[in-house]
Amino acid sequence: MFHLTRSVTWQALQRLQQATAQDRISDYFAADPQRFDKMSLRVGGLFLDYSKHHVSEAVLAKLLELADHSALVQRRAQMFSGDIINVTEDRPVLHTALRNLGEGPLMVDGKDVMPEIQRTREQIRLFSEAVRSGEWRGYSGERIRDVVNIGIGGSDLGPNMACRALLKYRHSELNFHFVSNVDGTHIQKVLKRLDPATTLFIVSTKTFSTQETLLNAKTARRWFLDNAGEGADVGAHFVAASTNSKAAMEFGIREENVFEFWAWVGGRYSMWSSIGLPIALSIGFDGFMEMLEGAYAMDQHFIEAPNARNMPVLMALIGIWYINFLGAETQAIVPYDQALHQLPAFLQQLDMESNGKSVDIFGHPVNYKTGPIVWGQTGSNGQHAFFQLLHQGTRYVPIDFIASLKPEPGVEEHHFALLTNMLAQANAFMMGSQEGSQLDPYSCPGNRPSSVLLLDELTPRNLGALIALYEHKVFVQGVIWNINSFDQWGVQLGKRIAGEISERIDERSQEFDASTQGLLALVREHFRS
Ligand code: F6P
Repeated sequence: MFHLTRSVTWQALQRLQQATAQDRISDYFAADPQRFDKMSLRVGGLFLDYSKHHVSEAVLAKLLELADHSALVQRRAQMFSGDIINVTEDRPVLHTALRNLGEGPLMVDGKDVMPEIQRTREQIRLFSEAVRSGEWRGYSGERIRDVVNIGIGGSDLGPNMACRALLKYRHSELNFHFVSNVDGTHIQKVLKRLDPATTLFIVSTKTFSTQETLLNAKTARRWFLDNAGEGADVGAHFVAASTNSKAAMEFGIREENVFEFWAWVGGRYSMWSSIGLPIALSIGFDGFMEMLEGAYAMDQHFIEAPNARNMPVLMALIGIWYINFLGAETQAIVPYDQALHQLPAFLQQLDMESNGKSVDIFGHPVNYKTGPIVWGQTGSNGQHAFFQLLHQGTRYVPIDFIASLKPEPGVEEHHFALLTNMLAQANAFMMGSQEGSQLDPYSCPGNRPSSVLLLDELTPRNLGALIALYEHKVFVQGVIWNINSFDQWGVQLGKRIAGEISERIDERSQEFDASTQGLLALVREHFRS
């Protein structure tokens, strides 16, 4: 059997780690004036500078060898063609089909899935146009003004992040709200400001069985019926994005207002499906399609570009170098763009739910580190919060800086300050405060790595490409670690136990551990009827 850590390439990388441990990134630049040109790459509207990494040419060559010797070519082909690569759930992984703009069929279980994808896209087009134009009317004949998306995890984070990122394209007469937390204050706070006659609820849930979402949806329905006037019609105000149309219809949603998607779309990869309905409502169907086009272009790049010029592959390999060879535990995501403030949370789920695994695809424990802890927040705010630790703390944290180049009209001066702050930080992390004078104990040591990812402009197309880029980065890492990036048994366990505990709240069940029983007794005190 193949053992990753016993492979010749892995061991060569371990030796390279020792040989380059004392290197300074700045010396790589001194030795090679072409380094920036060699280690930067443009794909469509995205530009990646990966030159400020603790990666020598020899290291990069070896990392590329690691990719060459992995199952990447085969697994990538399997993913795009609908083979079952989510082996534990016995499913294909076909979020790429949702943005497939090619002509040909895509067969799953002997059936071409493209016609149904196109049918749902058309349903999204017709519905979003009707709501945006005011043709869609609520029970009292008024147009929709507020859209509330009720969902959690992948059924919230993607559309939530994208709607905020693309706020400047939003329909001027529609407001968007995202309710995810089972904490009732979340939905209460949102509902307090709304008028039932002009509010549309989207119940976004792949399974239509997630406790948090169902509870929030029921609260929303009760609020609607309690507050709406005569003729209140749930069917005119509630729609669903779900694979479970039966449960959605039982909830009171009309069949024609269930926006279908399929088991082969993973929750955290679902913003390209009908889970993206809020995006189409906000920026319009054409904008939604542009986002899909951007992702499709990144898919094509991922399939066609040689590894040495392949953006997701390069990002994945650099990540592996830090995680498996330089001991980095975390990956910081720092967008210098307020519109991207939800991006770290989105990427956190994408990466940590996908690659937070400790067994390989055969169920054998792995003896190497897998997915990193992904975290972050916007710059320049982060500079005044956690950057101190990144500059001078004892942790080693690679950073992805992300920004868009084009300023918004009227805030050019701010945008210039934003970008120059980001470049200053990336420079300071690499150079430290006093390169060459290491004697001052308070100087910043530098030699801390970062990527800079620039979008020409924060458009739907570039956002689509950016998200697809990270999806593929996570995929490549999962392939090299030989893990299944598409299941989430830990999350399922939490969902199941939450159900069990709430069912047994009245029993003095001995089933749980002593701590849980003790705490449950305290909770019970507050829920005695
Ligand atoms: O967080 C785990 C998860 O299964 C995600 O993958 C999914 O996006 C989320 O729960 C919500 O599930 P559902 O869309 O079925 O409500």
